[in-house]
Amino acid sequence: MKIISSIDDLRDQLHGQLRTAFVPTMGNLHEGHLSLMRLARRHGDPVVASIFVNRLQFGPNEDFDKYPRTFQADVEKLEKEGVYVLFAPTEKDMYPEPQEYRVRPPDGLGNTLEGEFRPGFFEGVCTVVTKLFSCVQPRVAVFGKKDYQQLMIVRNMARQLGLPTEIIGAETYRADDGLALSSRNGYLSSEERAEAPVLYQQLNGVAEAMRAGERDPLAVERRAMEHLAARGWKPDYVSIRKRIDLQAPSAADLEAGTPLVVLAAAKLGNTRLIDNLEI
Ligand code: PAF
Repeated sequence: MKIISSIDDLRDQLHGQLRTAFVPTMGNLHEGHLSLMRLARRHGDPVVASIFVNRLQFGPNEDFDKYPRTFQADVEKLEKEGVYVLFAPTEKDMYPEPQEYRVRPPDGLGNTLEGEFRPGFFEGVCTVVTKLFSCVQPRVAVFGKKDYQQLMIVRNMARQLGLPTEIIGAETYRADDGLALSSRNGYLSSEERAEAPVLYQQLNGVAEAMRAGERDPLAVERRAMEHLAARGWKPDYVSIRKRIDLQAPSAADLEAGTPLVVLAAAKLGNTRLIDNLEI
């Protein structure tokens, strides 16, 4: 595997490649990331991964400084997966001057859910993803469904900007007890780790209620939030949305059986976890 940090060297290395499959990451790789590499391999060749902890998508009080950086271990994992190039730019490589040109998602999708609780997050993601795409020029790029809203925003962005990259969504990789794998799980104490699957259990409870014909999504959401709060969580949201645009379903949508997804974000101790489930 070639490890490349400069954009020019990356372009030289990938020159003439027309079927590149790309997996952008922020490192601290776990089985979930590796499953994205395997899916990428099914959709293109060569497989290119990136590791870059993108300052632009972190708020001033978020965990940019303490975000886990495990470069050597990541390299070994990617080598085993047969990744051809690892693009690992420094901040100077990626942002040699202040990144004043930005890509901002539209308000409806960009300001709800994660966008409401993490202002600027999706602008940071869209900006870095556009720049990474410009460096790698992939034919396909793989994003996990665990970050459901991110996947949708990146897919819409690629379509609206006419980028030549097809966005592929990968199923969420879960531990045996249901907890979605995430780099931030490493922040959990052992007691918190034992409690963490309750978030996914609540999503399943919401999905079951809706499948059983419940017609008051707000009441279902409220029950799940109250349950989490009673166990010591601090929920930001548990929200039932339409899959198509992540807006709240109307009574007519519920009647028509419009495909739904339930999304949740909640803090357990100091760790903020997110998860979702298609209904
Ligand atoms: O999902 C992530 O790890 C990041 O948001 C991404 C897509 C690599 C952009 O920094």
